[in-house]
Amino acid sequence: MNVKKHTNKLHLIWLHTLLLLFLNHPVQAQLDPLGMMLTWQQDPTTTMTLDWYTPADNQNSFIEYRAIPFDEEEDEWVVASGDHFEFPHSDRLIHRVEVTGLEPDKEYQFRVGEFTRIRKFRTMPAEALRPVRIAVGGDVRHRIEWMDQTNRRAARYDPDFVLWGGDLAYADGMEERVYRWYEFLESTMRTLMTDDGRVIPVLSSLGNHEVLGGYYYRDEHDRRDGLPEFYGSEEHKEMISPYYYALFAFPGHPGYGVLDFGDYLSVVILDTDHNNPIDGEQTEWLEEILNERQDIPHIFPTYHNPAYPSVRNPEWDSSDRVRENWVPLFEEYGVRVVFEKHDHIYKRTFPILEDQINSKGVVYIGDGAWGVGTREIGRSHEEHAWYLDRAASERHFILTTIHGAHQHFLMINEDGQIIDEYPQTPHTDFSPVRMAEPWLPAEETEFDEDEEMDSE
Ligand SMILES: [Fe+2]
Ligand SMILES: [Fe+2]
Repeated sequence: MNVKKHTNKLHLIWLHTLLLLFLNHPVQAQLDPLGMMLTWQQDPTTTMTLDWYTPADNQNSFIEYRAIPFDEEEDEWVVASGDHFEFPHSDRLIHRVEVTGLEPDKEYQFRVGEFTRIRKFRTMPAEALRPVRIAVGGDVRHRIEWMDQTNRRAARYDPDFVLWGGDLAYADGMEERVYRWYEFLESTMRTLMTDDGRVIPVLSSLGNHEVLGGYYYRDEHDRRDGLPEFYGSEEHKEMISPYYYALFAFPGHPGYGVLDFGDYLSVVILDTDHNNPIDGEQTEWLEEILNERQDIPHIFPTYHNPAYPSVRNPEWDSSDRVRENWVPLFEEYGVRVVFEKHDHIYKRTFPILEDQINSKGVVYIGDGAWGVGTREIGRSHEEHAWYLDRAASERHFILTTIHGAHQHFLMINEDGQIIDEYPQTPHTDFSPVRMAEPWLPAEETEFDEDEEMDSE
């Protein structure tokens, strides 16, 4: 028998089969779903929640995974099944699988549904015996290429997870802006991944751009015209913030929550008047959870509207409410650093205690410019803001490292330059972007919210 001829024939059959597959299913659809995002709903040291998105005719809500390292012969893939539900204002489905019973600080290989690309995830350590890194930021995508760029920069540092503080896809909960979420979730799949194929999980609070009309509660902005009054029910919140509740498994209702990592870290996700009033129930809850965590060395409150804004006027009533209700609790319960967003530049305050600079105080780091157009420092301030130590009109992320009881923050811009560090290493100089710009008197004190979308 002519072996070569036989092989050629087999090749032809194989090519023909491949061609048929290509015609019936685009190659991309076989390798990858339409988007992906990982997060946690419970203990990040032993669980992982995996979300991916497909057309409605794909109802395969399962994943296969196995611990690394593995023996190719003996270690079989484990199947975990989950559920799928409607992607709001879309004909797509959200698939969600929560894997439990994992080992802490361990890498796993996985693939989702029938998609063939193999990726990795990593559980969090049970103790902070190794450096834990978090890429922190907010105000994520005016332009998808800006989001991609900062995602890629952050991924190079191998962060354990990303912590965003709202203003994500700038869809404002609107049906006609669903495409912004499609692009966003494709970006999290493509670019929130380390060089060795590990997908980086995401946690996020609500921002005004997750909500119909912006600040739903108490806001009298004209974008609220024609929208129903605030009721506070779960149904109403899902109506005004449909994408946030469907796409972010954590914190879910009521729109704020706390996630504990062993006994070394607690991430506190708060809502600055978007779905829940700052004062009242949320403040009472905050006091309770801070009181219960007085022995936890790292507590990071994360929310959208800043108590100490870098661009907007600090007398703005939402900032006032954060200062009146939450700041005294951060001070009382020994919080060291708080993450704020919304103003679209980089800022770091001096340590603040009782509205004064005090080395025993709380440092506020923000102000949300992961992938948005930046603004002018102090633009709506009437005078020099005494509380600002550093600021820079730069897209950036905050590389937060905790190790034992230590905290360290390195601010890195979209080009990979270090623009600030806290606590600062002696004798370092970040002069090219050091903020000591003269304070210009504000020419416009009215802030135009719509500018955020106009900047595209
Ligand atoms: Fe915002
Ligand atoms: Fe924003």
